[in-house]
Amino acid sequence: MIISNWQPIRVPLELSPEIAHVVRVRLDLAHEQWLPLIELLNDEERTRAARFRFDEPRRQFVICRATLRRLLGTICHVAPQTISFRNGSHGKPELSFYEMKLSVPQIEFNVSHSGTMGLIAIAVGASIGIDVEEYDPSVKFLQLAERFFAPMEATDLKGLQPEKQLTGFYRGWTCKEAYIKAKGNGLSLSLSSFRVIIDPDRPASLRHIDGQPDEPCNWTTESLEVSNHHAAAVMIHRPECRIALWDWPVDGSNPGT
Ligand SMILES: CC(C)(COP(=O)(O)OP(=O)(O)OC[C@H]1O[C@@H](n2cnc3c(N)ncnc32)[C@H](O)[C@@H]1OP(=O)(O)O)[C@@H](O)C(=O)NCCC(=O)NCCS
Repeated sequence: MIISNWQPIRVPLELSPEIAHVVRVRLDLAHEQWLPLIELLNDEERTRAARFRFDEPRRQFVICRATLRRLLGTICHVAPQTISFRNGSHGKPELSFYEMKLSVPQIEFNVSHSGTMGLIAIAVGASIGIDVEEYDPSVKFLQLAERFFAPMEATDLKGLQPEKQLTGFYRGWTCKEAYIKAKGNGLSLSLSSFRVIIDPDRPASLRHIDGQPDEPCNWTTESLEVSNHHAAAVMIHRPECRIALWDWPVDGSNPGT
């Protein structure tokens, strides 16, 4: 359940197991606004930023990673540069508490970016996954659904009124991707091994997981209205989790200063 709609972020976020936070980050910053953010990254992240062939993915990565560092820095009461990450077995970034020697609650986070939109999701003591996708009206969504979705999801999509099928596809895609990202398994987890609600007029929900009939009710799923050009969803491995929505300053400045 969303407990507060998009509003300017107040840092540090107040963390509690019952509330997850989603922070909306604008990625269409001018060069002079985002280039200084590279200073907040570590050597490995800077090397990665330098390797992007195109400006857009570089900008997305730098802004999201620097904002994540600032956000976690305010929560952990440390400078953004000192935040330490490690990657899970399939590349999901996690906080490296051991290296940081901090006694803060178990903070879980996940990041997604698409076009001009970045989202950062934060929870305490529960896996969390988030996905944002820019609508692409030219995408062959029925073919993609046939190929990747569970058969019943593809049937549900075809059963929607034609004008609802594109949003239905993106509703399904973002929910499925949010689940995969919460689990952290990457695409080693088959997209057809679980089912979500496709109909964009119904509340987003995880309906079925192969071999785990009781597990879907342990999850909170929420679709997020982030812009007219994007679909987004968040999933938290906790039932009936409440969700607060925040806006990072649109000029990329640090709200903590
Ligand atoms: C790695 C993966 C998470 C990429 O997702 P994506 O939609 O391309 O990109 P997003 O912007 O949503 O997420 C990228 C962020 O997820 C995080 N991430 C990376 N690996 C992850 C993993 N295994 N689990 C969770 N999060 C992960 C990182 O923070 C990454 O951002 P960064 O590299 O800038 O730090 C993975 O799920 C994937 O490749 N999905 C394929 C998508 C697909 O084919 N979907 C079909 C649906 S029909």
